[in-house]
Amino acid sequence: MLFNISAAKDTLARIESGLSDHLDSLFLPVRRWGRELQVSAYAGQPGAGADGPSKLMNDANPEGAPPENVISIRGLTKIFGPKPQAAIKLQEGGASKQQVLERTGSVVGLKDIDLDVREGEIFVVMGLSGSGKSTMLRCLNRLVEPTAGSILVNGVDIRKLDDRGLLNFRRLHLGMVFQNFGLLPHRTILDNVAYGLEVRGMPLEQRHAKAMSMIELVGLKGYESSLPSQLSGGMKQRVGLARALANDPGILLMDEAFSALDPLIRRSMQDELLDLHDKLGKTIVFVTHDLDEALRLGDRIAIMKDGQIVQVGTPEEILTNPADDYVASFLNGIDRSKVMTCESLMRKPEVVIPLRTGPRTALRMLDDSDQVTGFVVEKDKRFIGLVKAEDLLKALERSSPLSEAVRADVLTVTPGTMVEDLITILVETDYPIPVLDDGGMLMGVIYPGSVMDKVRPANGNTPEEVPA
Ligand SMILES: Nc1ncnc2c1ncn2[C@@H]1O[C@H](COP(=O)(O)OP(=O)(O)OP(=O)(O)O)[C@@H](O)[C@H]1O
Ligand SMILES: [Mg+2]
Repeated sequence: MLFNISAAKDTLARIESGLSDHLDSLFLPVRRWGRELQVSAYAGQPGAGADGPSKLMNDANPEGAPPENVISIRGLTKIFGPKPQAAIKLQEGGASKQQVLERTGSVVGLKDIDLDVREGEIFVVMGLSGSGKSTMLRCLNRLVEPTAGSILVNGVDIRKLDDRGLLNFRRLHLGMVFQNFGLLPHRTILDNVAYGLEVRGMPLEQRHAKAMSMIELVGLKGYESSLPSQLSGGMKQRVGLARALANDPGILLMDEAFSALDPLIRRSMQDELLDLHDKLGKTIVFVTHDLDEALRLGDRIAIMKDGQIVQVGTPEEILTNPADDYVASFLNGIDRSKVMTCESLMRKPEVVIPLRTGPRTALRMLDDSDQVTGFVVEKDKRFIGLVKAEDLLKALERSSPLSEAVRADVLTVTPGTMVEDLITILVETDYPIPVLDDGGMLMGVIYPGSVMDKVRPANGNTPEEVPA
């Protein structure tokens, strides 16, 4: 198929830059058209493969709607060194990384990885040094060439792109932020940020305007004429971020981007990244070896070991259910109350008493379950309050209805309340804490005795006993 790539590129650049949100629905057909042009452009490149990415895209995305997984990795393997095929055979036969190295002189970087990254999430990859984090991230834009497997990014099999198709694809879809900033030392901040736009052929005035808006976005207005050497580490990393964002890529790849910064600056960069993510809604793949950073940033976290993924899950899933000892060893010393929510602690209430119940029956219900506290609800499960056995006895003596024995001024939480906040409530109360949804329905109850066991780190120490 004959196709003018630069026209497609321009069309996409126009479509992808700066359309305001309220025009989105109006431009949906245009966006779809742009996406089709882009896929056709790659399909027209030599090396696009028999099916061409267009077919792959259509298979993955029959309705033309954006795929839910923006990155899909299957069977990804990377062998560094002289005998990749022999190394793959050996590892398939169960040889360890060390054995493969001894017998072939090749290093197993990644081993048969399957992974999906969802649109708009911050996906954190963590693991010990040498576990393969950077290799995996760099396979996503083919800075490292995979040895085997497939990588679909926005529905396009990037392994099938030729050099030019790959360059175009990177510029349009992928921004990368490195640990060592990677700035050009003799260019001003403005020209560093505008660099990718310049390579794309954007006219000077337009690219400077776009670069300025990115510089403002990352809080560096006033520094546009400075040179990188005049900026602190944190500021340089902001420039790196602004440069990656200037191309308006859907996906940001960040490799230990904040690891070189001192702890306070690092923390404020994390906050800013979260703010930017809220504002711009990019998909971010973030590599770090720092668990606190992973827990703060990650919607989901993948934990890598020896080139494989040992576990993928939300921070809470990983904390409450570590897949093995390796994962558990990462979690030692973590204050879980800062990550876990009440949802993972709540249990079914032992005694739920409908409001119309008489005090005698309510007492019987408590007695049958060996409880002193019941949870009173309307017919529709809306929570009314607590009732204690002692109050029911008084109501019986006075022949008053259940409603007069109910305590309505009760502290409650939602499933999303952090355990850290629950603990401050538990200190002030002497009853089980009701968990209500946003509509006030009773979802569950937290019995105080069950909390500390769950919050205690995996090594058995209480958070206070763990060295900082
Ligand atoms: N260019 C290369 N040539 C040979 N081996 C490599 C190369 N790059 C990475 N490796 C090997 O691949 C494995 C994974 O390395 P990678 O850099 O991905 O680890 P990492 O998890 O990012 O580690 P770190 O936290 O230290 O950055 C390691 O065993 C490493 O030695
Ligand atoms: Mg690395």
